[in-house]
Amino acid sequence: TIPVLTIDGPSGSGKGTISRAVADRLGWHYLDSGALYRAVGLAAAWEGLDLSDAEAVANCAARTDIRFETAGEGEPRVIVNGKDATRLIRTETAGAAASAIAAHPQVRAALVALQHGFRRAPGLVADGRDMGTVIFPDARWKVFLTASAEERAKRRHKQLKEKGVSVTLAGLLNEIAARDERDASRSVAPLKPAQDAVVVDSTGTPIHEVVERVLAVLPE
Ligand code: CDP
Repeated sequence: TIPVLTIDGPSGSGKGTISRAVADRLGWHYLDSGALYRAVGLAAAWEGLDLSDAEAVANCAARTDIRFETAGEGEPRVIVNGKDATRLIRTETAGAAASAIAAHPQVRAALVALQHGFRRAPGLVADGRDMGTVIFPDARWKVFLTASAEERAKRRHKQLKEKGVSVTLAGLLNEIAARDERDASRSVAPLKPAQDAVVVDSTGTPIHEVVERVLAVLPE
């Protein structure tokens, strides 16, 4: 069977950067499941759907064409129903839409087969919230990547500042703590490490070192 390494964790844990770097190092495919939820959130909004209508959004998820196009260096472009949505899916609006539609079991179910399709030779690094628990429970290696709420708030603060958005660190910390609580206690796909996951805490650790620690989970 084709090997899978799952990397789950809360937002701000550095999952995206780490997972992409690990996939590059291994020469494996990379699944950014968060981007799929963001793309569906966007497509549903384009269609003017009520995001709380689980059936309507699940149907939308099933017919939305999402493609990742890698062109040389850098992040792949994300094409949603033929439109380049690379930047749009990263907006706060798309993030909020993703989080709303991700709460519907019907929507999650509609994305299962698509996610399984990313499992191609020579291997897959799957990044998300439920990769090791729900989507690839048989994955050979599972990592749960965390960082303290303070550290995640600081990273987010830096990112927002670079974008010219001014928010207080204290406000962000409150928001992150509240979101952690919501994510862990939600009835649909609650965020928790798989039983057989190795927990990697990236607090105070530079990216290249976290990458090494994740790679160390795999045998030589
Ligand atoms: O960094 P952040 O968590 O904001 O973004 P993301 O990883 O791109 O995920 C966007 C949204 O999709 C989050 O609100 C998650 O709750 C949701 N999601 C999910 O429910 N399951 C996944 N496997 C991936 C993301």
